[in-house]
Amino acid sequence: MAKGIVVYYSRSGNTKEMAEIIAEAMNDAELKTECKSVDKVKTDDLFGYDAIVIGSPTYYGQMAGAIKQLIDDLVSRHGQLNNKVGGAFTSSANIGGGNETTIMGIIEGMLIAGMVVQGDPQGDHYGPVSIGKPDERVRQQCKRRGQRIAELTKKLVSY
Ligand SMILES: Cc1cc2nc3c(=O)[nH]c(=O)nc-3n(C[C@H](O)[C@H](O)[C@H](O)COP(=O)(O)O)c2cc1C
Repeated sequence: MAKGIVVYYSRSGNTKEMAEIIAEAMNDAELKTECKSVDKVKTDDLFGYDAIVIGSPTYYGQMAGAIKQLIDDLVSRHGQLNNKVGGAFTSSANIGGGNETTIMGIIEGMLIAGMVVQGDPQGDHYGPVSIGKPDERVRQQCKRRGQRIAELTKKLVSY
């Protein structure tokens, strides 16, 4: 059975809230999904999942160091995330505060690892973005993203 994980780093809870909504939507769409803070995840754990979604606060327009470390640690098993589904999301303080560059940084790592990342023509294109605490718009975007990731993963796994 296909499985997913949502990994996040969060100091003040905004990114964590997004992570929990995305994981709930993935479970609701029948992709068994865990939601874990990055300090509870080792790089080796990731190989057991078919979908890996990573969220970080925007720090200086980039992902937080703990998330970058998780990605950097993949190098010892480079290529083993090939064909898995990826997704990314972020919380920042400001509109135009570097949130999309943060998401793209995470996605770049996923693409280098051989993962499959789907855009969204209607919703937040690269991945859900929250300005501060998630509001209703963000909650909907997180649900939508979780649902889309689950649907894509189930298709790829059964293909
Ligand atoms: C070290 C640091 C750097 C930050 N850099 C940015 C930034 O470049 N742009 C921005 O909009 N917000 C920035 N922020 C604000 C956080 O992205 C924002 O408060 C976010 O919602 C925190 O997420 P969290 O509640 O999951 O910890 C920064 C915060 C910290 C602590």
